[in-house]
Amino acid sequence: MSNDGEVLWFTGLSGSGKSTTARALVEPLRVSGRKVELLDGDELRRTISQGLGFSREDRIKNVERIVFLCKLLSRNGVTVVVSAITPYEEMRAHARAELPGYVEIYVDCPLEECERRDVKGLYAKARNDEIKQFTGIGDPYEMPDQPDIVIRTHVDEVESNVSFIMDYLMTKTGRS
Ligand code: PPS
Repeated sequence: MSNDGEVLWFTGLSGSGKSTTARALVEPLRVSGRKVELLDGDELRRTISQGLGFSREDRIKNVERIVFLCKLLSRNGVTVVVSAITPYEEMRAHARAELPGYVEIYVDCPLEECERRDVKGLYAKARNDEIKQFTGIGDPYEMPDQPDIVIRTHVDEVESNVSFIMDYLMTKTGRS
């Protein structure tokens, strides 16, 4: 049996609630005895992916780097929580193939709701053509083909989504 840590990979539109849910998941994971590392898309783009843009090529490079980091951490038993848009199925297939502990969590939230929230003001800029290739506007978000978990942030509260994910992990691994 593999001792690899789980890689809990949140994918979804900007503003869908990936990072909020990912952050809220860290504490219960630690309480359950896991060593946990959170890898957040925004932070990674300021560090290991600094200089990369949002072309298809750059997004793929970005995700490949995240997958590599996950590999290093998870093979040492660390549970990794990733929050990154990961918009193309090809990227997610790559992560799934490379990471034995990969668990895909699709953060399902309609584009209209993400745009209504517009937490960072980026949708408004994308609509004004100030940001090209914005996911969901000028660049596609391919809905996941085979997510392990789907959460609906426009319907359910953060705590209930976190409990749902913890229950899933307990059933899957037998670990509370
Ligand atoms: S990707 O596609 O997985 O490489 O994207 P990711 O590394 O998660 O980075 C997404 C964050 O970058 C900001 N941002 C954009 N997102 C999408 N498209 C464009 N063009 C873009 N430009 C900047 C945005 O803040 C994303 O963060 P979240 O947390 O998803 O809102």
